Amino acid sequence: MFRGEPWALNTILTGFLFFIVTLMLGTMMPGVMITNSVVFGVVPAHFTAAFLGWIGLVILGAQLQFFRAITAERRYEPENLRPIYWGFATLGVLLMIGGDLLRHGWMVVLGLVFYSITIVIHSFWIIPKIKNKLFKFPLNYLLGSHVFLVTGMILIWLQVLNDPLGLADNFEIIHVLTIGWISLNLQGALIRALPMFLGQVIDRSMRQWIDRHFVFSFVSNIVLLAGLITSQSIITWIGGTLWLLVWLWVVVLLFRSIFLSKRSIEYPATLWFIGPGLLFLAFGAMLGFHDAEAASGFPRAVHIHSSLLVGLSIIMIGAINRITSFQMFTLAYTGRRDTGVAVSDFIKEKYMRVIAPGLLISGFVVLLGFARAASRPLMLLGITGYVLFVLIFGIYLLRNYIHYRQQMKFAIPYDKKPSEVDNDAK
Ligand code: HEM
Repeated sequence: MFRGEPWALNTILTGFLFFIVTLMLGTMMPGVMITNSVVFGVVPAHFTAAFLGWIGLVILGAQLQFFRAITAERRYEPENLRPIYWGFATLGVLLMIGGDLLRHGWMVVLGLVFYSITIVIHSFWIIPKIKNKLFKFPLNYLLGSHVFLVTGMILIWLQVLNDPLGLADNFEIIHVLTIGWISLNLQGALIRALPMFLGQVIDRSMRQWIDRHFVFSFVSNIVLLAGLITSQSIITWIGGTLWLLVWLWVVVLLFRSIFLSKRSIEYPATLWFIGPGLLFLAFGAMLGFHDAEAASGFPRAVHIHSSLLVGLSIIMIGAINRITSFQMFTLAYTGRRDTGVAVSDFIKEKYMRVIAPGLLISGFVVLLGFARAASRPLMLLGITGYVLFVLIFGIYLLRNYIHYRQQMKFAIPYDKKPSEVDNDAK
């Protein structure tokens, strides 16, 4: 159904709150702000907030929205499971972060139980959709990515249970999640949504290759992961080259769809988040080829943060702005006439033109800080700027949310079409 889904929206917004937590924990990291007092628990807490909180909740929420819109289903049943889904995910991440910081293993395990329940509910909702006659691209990418999320979760469980099989260390978990789960989601979502966000359509000549691209992408993820996990450099190089080719195809498709089209580009600020974000993501991934496995300390930090802090996070902010604007506008205003409010009032293009470059420049300064063997002044400058622009973005998100909540008393139910409400009234 082509309207917002309230709990999908709440899940994405909660993901954004965990982004702020990730940043706070990042600044508390040994060597960043704190010089000698090494707080070990901050490292796993930062990891949990980043992957399961920020990236995790945004992907889960966006998937719920995409699956519902494309398969034209009205609601996720049973309905009262939806707040439980959100509650378990949120409480799960909070408990895991708290458990990491306070060094209470039981809290981490309990949090993981809660979070896993959310993933079970999510699977229960999305996997059967494969039988829906409207199931099509990009749902294949999103469902395919789920295999890597479940694998990542099994590895996290093994790690928490002291890894009896000797399979799961951070390196494996991070790469299963980034190379498999994040990359497939990002490819599917970008191919489907970026041209649409900019008022364009997917290039016709490349559209026919999308399903084959998905299979190729899925296989290249597995080869690259196999190489990394077994430390076989030849397999890593083959998998890595295939993986980059898969991404290159996405970039060419997006370029042709957006820049070679005759239509004028709408809301170009979205591109300012996603275009440079992809470049930083590519740069970060390329650093991985430069033996990131062996590297430690700050070169490793540049590899991680070019990919995730500057690349992925800025892409996600651009996407969140568009997805949540669509959700809030359609939830509050569908079927209402003469309100004078349009989706552009939620997108706030003018402010995004400042926020996108602000985030990119300060993110770049953070990377310089990491690269120059932890130059503290540069790092502090970059972090301050980055956090400031994230908070400004957060203020716009909050203002949108307040506006949306105020308007919900006039809105038609989220799972009804305007014609059905008119009929009910008659
Ligand atoms: C203010 C921003 C941030 C700062 C100052 C920061 C700082 C750090 C530092 C110092 C490390 C340890 C590096 C090492 O072990 O070599 C680290 C690790 C990491 N960071 Fe960040 N970080 C920030 C934001 C982020 C964001 C937004 C993400 C993801 C979206 C992220 C993901 C990670 C990951 C995955 C690790 C590896 C954790 C592990 O080894 O278990 N960071 N961060």
